[in-house]
Amino acid sequence: MIVLVTGGAGYIGSHAVQRLLRDDHRVIAVDNLDRGHIQAIHALTAIAQGHLSFVQADIAETKTLTQVMRARKVDAVMHFAALAYVGESVDDPLRYYRNNTAGALSVLQAVDAAGVKRFVFSSTCATYGKPKPRYIPIPETCPQAPINPYGRSKLQVEQMLFDYAASAERAGKPFSFAALRYFNVAGSDRTGVLGEHHDPETHLIPIILQTMLGLRENVTIFGTNYDTPDGTCIRDYVHVEDLIDAHVAVLDALEPGDTRAYNLGIGKGYSVRQVINAAKRVTGRKIEIVEGPRRAGDPPRLFADPAKIKSELKWTAKIRNIDEIIASAWDWFEKHPRGYETRAGVTSAT
Ligand SMILES: NC(=O)c1ccc[n+]([C@@H]2O[C@H](COP(=O)([O-])OP(=O)(O)OC[C@H]3O[C@@H](n4cnc5c(N)ncnc54)[C@H](O)[C@@H]3O)[C@@H](O)[C@H]2O)c1
Repeated sequence: MIVLVTGGAGYIGSHAVQRLLRDDHRVIAVDNLDRGHIQAIHALTAIAQGHLSFVQADIAETKTLTQVMRARKVDAVMHFAALAYVGESVDDPLRYYRNNTAGALSVLQAVDAAGVKRFVFSSTCATYGKPKPRYIPIPETCPQAPINPYGRSKLQVEQMLFDYAASAERAGKPFSFAALRYFNVAGSDRTGVLGEHHDPETHLIPIILQTMLGLRENVTIFGTNYDTPDGTCIRDYVHVEDLIDAHVAVLDALEPGDTRAYNLGIGKGYSVRQVINAAKRVTGRKIEIVEGPRRAGDPPRLFADPAKIKSELKWTAKIRNIDEIIASAWDWFEKHPRGYETRAGVTSAT
């Protein structure tokens, strides 16, 4: 298959590119490098045997995308490119609607013009907002009621996809898509080539590991009086390679006209304190913890009910243990303390 991957220089997108190449697909990665890393593309090019091309472009460039999709006869699009910081989306919502919602619209216009028939979209559990306790663990039937612009910018794309697929069906040109609602993605690829490098970093596991490496002074726990066994928030951490396995399963399964949505998580949650303790076990290092106030809009428990994708596509996360997920992330952070910019203290020339 010829697959166009938007956000291919980012954390999850680069892992998808790697897996698609391993599976013998031809890949075109598109990224504006706003938050992605050309070093990831270079690393992937080295193993791609000519099957990867990189287009530095913004997803708002509909004409460029259309030309690439037509010229390369793209069969499917995996759309990862987005801005993904909740706090930033609250401060600058228009940027999020432009980049994530209007950006996806541009990708979809190119898909329409070029006649691409399959689409896999990176959605998020943030589209569920603050689910009522009866929806924990969260099934796909949980009402989607996001509580911040980031979540809304993603939900709007899901709605756009449903509307577009319905119109394509009516026009006799069936289009299929899957909206994959990720929980917390973590870990790195097993060959050590790719890893997580967000700047700024807001995800718990990288923050803990960067603190263990002495790059941060401490880790703040936001809220220690939640109604959970140890008082801290509980989240579902899914390994990035398991997450990509699900994308591959979905891509293979999409039949003309399919409109699917799946939650991608391991189906159980770990509290912030459990994650910190696991990181201490895995690394043998200690860190300073600061107990801070709750953050607005942080639900006490968020974890997936992944039963639907298990029954329909036989996908289930292989790595279900938090120590294993953290060990995988640690492999990367220990060797690349400053992400793609350095490897174990050596500054990269690129
Ligand atoms: N990391 C998680 O835990 C998580 C959880 C839920 C959903 N997601 C979703 O997964 C996707 C990937 O997340 P990630 O963690 O890999 O983020 P990331 O920032 O590492 O990757 C996103 C990539 O998209 C690119 N990009 C952004 N806007 C673009 C634009 N307008 N044009 C071209 N390229 C653009 C960035 O440069 C970056 O390389 C996002 O859609 C995010 O919302 C991530």
